[in-house]
Amino acid sequence: MGSSTVEPKSSVVEKLNLKWALQLLSSSIGRKFVMGITGLLLCGFLVAHLAGNLLLFAGKAQFDHYAHTLHSQEWLPLAEAGLFVLFLAHIYLAFVTTKDNKSARSVEYAVKQSKIKVLGRVLDISPPGNWMFVSGAVVLGFLIVHLIDLRLGMRPDIAYGEEADAFHNTASVVSNSYSRLVYAVGILFLGFHLSHGFSSAFQSVGLSHRKYTPTIKLLGKIFAILIAVGFAAIVIFVPMMKHVQDELKNPPVVIETHKLD
Ligand code: HEM
Repeated sequence: MGSSTVEPKSSVVEKLNLKWALQLLSSSIGRKFVMGITGLLLCGFLVAHLAGNLLLFAGKAQFDHYAHTLHSQEWLPLAEAGLFVLFLAHIYLAFVTTKDNKSARSVEYAVKQSKIKVLGRVLDISPPGNWMFVSGAVVLGFLIVHLIDLRLGMRPDIAYGEEADAFHNTASVVSNSYSRLVYAVGILFLGFHLSHGFSSAFQSVGLSHRKYTPTIKLLGKIFAILIAVGFAAIVIFVPMMKHVQDELKNPPVVIETHKLD
């Protein structure tokens, strides 16, 4: 018999001092809390992302300057890794909390559920838990397409320019009719997701009070509308701008599929 010593599982957690994280994630309230925090941080990313992309309206020089400045930051890889972890945690917890909610609901109010029959199958469409899951899943689908389009630069039907030509590449994608449709649907669902998610995140992190809940809910709706209208304006109006049309008339020097940094 070999005498290999297998470290007990818990020791890694102890070494990294992650016991608190395990404890937090072991209760449904803790999971909701982390889900709320990750959701609010992702809202912060959306504000910054929208602000940067609105520079497409200002002009090529302004957008390229913004993209170049962003890409020359040393902290960018760390921020991107953090963003990736936030998305992963948010999506994982969406699955777990939806399961938590389902089992809680089946005990608490079996009668109150809204169910519809589709093709002989009974579907639970009780809002907003399921709706949050469905709208989140559509946003995730959009995000995957979006990253292929603009983070990886792998769309075979888009004539990408030089790596540094952020304006040309972004304008090409948002002017493509297929992208405009997919982005419009993704942005619409993002708006729905945020309109409930924003206020619900405040509640999940404990920032709720009977007196302020209506205000937080209203702010959530306003936030969702501003974000959705802002991104939608890009796909609707940017392709109509003269400086964008002029840019797209000039074919890029390098035409190839590559990763855009
Ligand atoms: C018209 C709308 C949008 C435009 C024009 C746009 C533009 C861009 C561009 C140019 C990049 C590449 C950035 C880089 O290489 O550093 C990017 C990345 C990204 N976008 Fe968007 N975006 C839009 C909407 C959205 C929405 C609605 C979401 C979220 C639901 C989103 C999430 C992301 C993420 C997560 C990345 C990767 C960030 C990174 O790794 O740096 N974008 N977007």
